[in-house]
Amino acid sequence: MSEDLKSIFQNLINNNIQNESIDDVLQYLIRLFPDEICFSTSFSMEDQVITNFVKNSDIKIFTLDTGRLFEDTYNTWNLTRSKYKVNVKAYYPDQNELEPFIQEKGPDSFYTSVDNRKACCNIRKVQPLKRALKGNKIWITGLRAEHSPDRKDLQQLEWDESNQIIKYHPLLFWSTDDVKNYIKEKQIPYNILHDKGFVSIGCAPCTRAIQPGEDFRAGRWWWEDASKKECGLHVHK
Ligand code: ADX
Ligand code: SF4
Repeated sequence: MSEDLKSIFQNLINNNIQNESIDDVLQYLIRLFPDEICFSTSFSMEDQVITNFVKNSDIKIFTLDTGRLFEDTYNTWNLTRSKYKVNVKAYYPDQNELEPFIQEKGPDSFYTSVDNRKACCNIRKVQPLKRALKGNKIWITGLRAEHSPDRKDLQQLEWDESNQIIKYHPLLFWSTDDVKNYIKEKQIPYNILHDKGFVSIGCAPCTRAIQPGEDFRAGRWWWEDASKKECGLHVHK
């Protein structure tokens, strides 16, 4: 079954589908997999741009509510609901995994070791993501090449071996200015943390603002070695 999907992916690449406009690629993918296409939003400015593209389509929109998000992220979610009339489906951590983990390690064990941090990300993000992706063939994300060195070599259409799904990153080659200008032009609601030096926004205890000139991901898990800074949502070969 997933071999079939992988060959469909190869056909998409061979036909250079990703070089079409975002609207055209989305229409093409929706026609191909009408009920099996989803978009994950963290309500970042990139994701808000994508929401503006997919708002009136059949694409399912979901978020992973880790339980540790910023209040401003929930505000952005509310603004998005009222402006676009979209119902974002939220996926939550499994209580049977989270409760014993917190009981044993305490609420903030992510600061104490990389293993504890990854275990928290696994329970709060990665396992809920697996549930969210189930039954879908296309997963749209707001990944941008500028955000980290290991995202620079990505393609807009990507085969995700670990999730056996086709990923589409429409804004992969957009610059920060492209994103900001689009948001301004279309009057898209966005997370006000972006105006306070936050670039890549995740959970509140694990995200800080960055200083001018700092690496874009310097504000994520800032106490860890740079090479460890992925949470497991996006696994690149
Ligand atoms: S992460 O791997 O470091 O957490 P990042 O914050 O760069 O990811 O976001 C990249 C993309 O991953 C987003 O555009 C979005 O598609 C998806 N994503 C990240 N966090 C979430 C979340 N909490 N809920 C839904 N999607 C998310
Ligand atoms: Fe836990 Fe921090 Fe990962 Fe959020 S980013 S899931 S709080 S370790």
